[in-house]
Amino acid sequence: MNTPSTILSAIPRRLHLQKDHPIAVTRELIESRFPDYKCHNTLCPVVTVEQNFDSLGFPADHIGRSRTDTYYLNRNTVLRTHTSAHQADTFRANESAGYLISADVYRRDAIDRSHYPVFHQMEGARTWDRNSLGTSKTIAEQIWADVAKIPSHFINVEDPNPPFHPERNPLQESHSAEEVEAMVVHLKRSLEDVVVAIFNAAKTAAAAAGEKTALTEEPLKVRWVEAYFPFTSPSWELEVFWKDDWLEVLGCGIVKQDILNNAGVPSRLGWAFGLGLERIAMLLYSIPDIRLFWSTDTRFLSQFSSAGPIQRFVPFSKYPACFKDVSFWLRSSSSAAGGHSRNVSAHDFHENDVMEVARDVSGDLVEDVRLVDEFVHPRTGRKSMCYRTNYRSLERTLTNEETNELHERFRQQLVEKLGVELR
Ligand code: PHE
Repeated sequence: MNTPSTILSAIPRRLHLQKDHPIAVTRELIESRFPDYKCHNTLCPVVTVEQNFDSLGFPADHIGRSRTDTYYLNRNTVLRTHTSAHQADTFRANESAGYLISADVYRRDAIDRSHYPVFHQMEGARTWDRNSLGTSKTIAEQIWADVAKIPSHFINVEDPNPPFHPERNPLQESHSAEEVEAMVVHLKRSLEDVVVAIFNAAKTAAAAAGEKTALTEEPLKVRWVEAYFPFTSPSWELEVFWKDDWLEVLGCGIVKQDILNNAGVPSRLGWAFGLGLERIAMLLYSIPDIRLFWSTDTRFLSQFSSAGPIQRFVPFSKYPACFKDVSFWLRSSSSAAGGHSRNVSAHDFHENDVMEVARDVSGDLVEDVRLVDEFVHPRTGRKSMCYRTNYRSLERTLTNEETNELHERFRQQLVEKLGVELR
């Protein structure tokens, strides 16, 4: 068990189901683009290692499985790290050709304005059955008929790569080129439609708020990039040009046939995607800090409604930041007294542990924690790190006593939990 109570206490929040919450409104907006898909929004976040990793073909040594990245409840049970944990079960239930799963997911990670250890994802999948072809002659023809039902758009899409590539992005043995070509177009068009809907809503909201930026003045630009996931092939990411940079908004691909075979539906084939709702909600509403989603302050919550058009977020005053540094030596696993201590390498130190200690002590009062200096002592070989913590409340001004006390507890906990030596 490496799951602190601060994380467990987030489980009942279910922001994606909270009426008028920006995460819930974002979910509803995306769901409205998939009218025939069955929505699963209340699946339990406690899943088995089998559901989260094994069923999806994650190799035994995949970094995602490690205790530095994933919250374990016991050896075989984790807080899901992605909504894909429910793929196999949802395929097995075989209730509809298309489904969407929205849920809270949990990952040990850095602390900054766009990372929080609990966030929300939406998974989507669409499959076709080789055994029930209706009036169409082949499955590819049936998929093309479904492609024709997706609304068309006029945005600028960069998509330079072929639908599959023997080395970089291979076709699966059990699929024909025709089937995959049709599924890939269906997948890409369906997701481009989502992105267009989101950006049109954001653009309308920005224009109504009097903003004049690339969002209101320039056409949307998106691109498809080849990707890798253990559970899809071929795979892609969709990126959106945002504030002078390409921003990844989702991952997707053709579902590995093994997953469908193991789920008892070997005659089905199809695609799946997964996207992060916070990131999209931040773009949609212009919300600057991911912690705001967890705020219970009415100055935040009262700004959103699922009725009527999206309204841009109006920031309320930012309270002052308070920066404090902590420097420490990594634990030295020294052997004999007076002898040379072995160099402490990164093998028993992971930055995510520092992040978690910070969160444990200060909760949402810590805005970010970043490494500002590290060096290795030339003679002893010991490694020193310096982290800078920014304490800031979203709701009030913190007093000096308060931040001093938080920081002192942070320093002591680093010693107790990570065995470092303060400098
Ligand atoms: N689960 C993947 C992630 O969290 C996203 C994904 C979902 C990719 C479905 C492909 C298919 O990054």
